[in-house]
Amino acid sequence: MRKKIAVLPGDGVGREIAKGAIAVLKAVGKRFGHEFSVEFAEIGGAAIDAHQTPLPEETLKLCRNSDAVLLGAVGGPKWDQLPSHLRPERGLLAIRKELGLFANLRPVIGFQSLLESSPLKPEIAENVNLMIVRELTGGLYFGKPSERRGENQEVVVDTLLYTKAEIERIVEKAFELAMIRRRKLTSVDKANVLESSRMWREIVNEKAKEFPQVEVQHMYVDAAAMKLVSHPRDFDVVVTENLFGDILSDEASMITGSLGMLPSASLRSDGFGLYEPVHGSAPDIAGKNKANPLAMILSAAMMLKYSFDLRTEAESIEQAVQEVLNAGYRTSDLQTAEGITVGTDQMIELVVQRIEEGSAISSIMGAYM
Ligand code: IPM
Ligand code: MN
Repeated sequence: MRKKIAVLPGDGVGREIAKGAIAVLKAVGKRFGHEFSVEFAEIGGAAIDAHQTPLPEETLKLCRNSDAVLLGAVGGPKWDQLPSHLRPERGLLAIRKELGLFANLRPVIGFQSLLESSPLKPEIAENVNLMIVRELTGGLYFGKPSERRGENQEVVVDTLLYTKAEIERIVEKAFELAMIRRRKLTSVDKANVLESSRMWREIVNEKAKEFPQVEVQHMYVDAAAMKLVSHPRDFDVVVTENLFGDILSDEASMITGSLGMLPSASLRSDGFGLYEPVHGSAPDIAGKNKANPLAMILSAAMMLKYSFDLRTEAESIEQAVQEVLNAGYRTSDLQTAEGITVGTDQMIELVVQRIEEGSAISSIMGAYM
């Protein structure tokens, strides 16, 4: 198979971890006989510096002419004082919107060997395997905000806006995922307060008729936040509005021990996707060879699975990551009593080595990531 991948390293640790995804894809290509070519473009702060805009037209063009997109992370203190329409984060929101990537899949899978890195008790964090399906191109992130003029402004508005069609397509995607997983769907909302949530609920109930095998549950977002850390194993697929999904996915990452472990896929209905770690650009550790590259590497695995249907290849990456963790290697975000602390580059090298060694693939993730 031949595929062209647009790589947008972005800012901060994004640049270091993007190298990891590329090295891993190279190793997979060599082992399984595929050709993955990569082309780079800027996004976020790096794009502001080079082109005075967080999402240059040529970056979008490259993405549109590629088979998939890998993205590192955006943002940093250097650009924090810019007006909101010029901030690096704006580039990320714009690329999601421009490419129509409405379905954000954030799998939360606890690695057995990382149990002691989780702040939760092992008996709670053990065997968690859930998938947050976050609506990504609507809701509070995209309602037209009121303009802020002058220093004495006393009123400000953000709008939570959804069309019926936008809710229907994300809910349908979540039902489809539930069907290939454990057939349980939790829809998270705030229907005791928000009108948009009441419509969300109605649509979920309507869609449920098409998927009678899926057990459906509605949960308020505050209760869901609590249950995620008290009974995380009770969840299979969780579907929710953009901002709720943003918050819940950071919370859920702690089950796995570190935000540095969580990959994500942002998909369009035709399977085209952008793949990025859930974590941000971590300016405090940028350039220090300290970042955990595993979320980025696992995002590349999701790309192979979701955009290219290369399941065995994706599992070879997941397995390599698992083996490296089992062998005790940890980046510094995953401090353990007995682990061997390694830097970003060494972690990448360890995963690459194991892919190249090519041990037989046993589907350890349950093929759910
Ligand atoms: C994420 C990030 C982004 C978001 C930020 C950087 C705009 O937190 O991907 O979760 O809020 O969506
Ligand atoms: Mn976030």
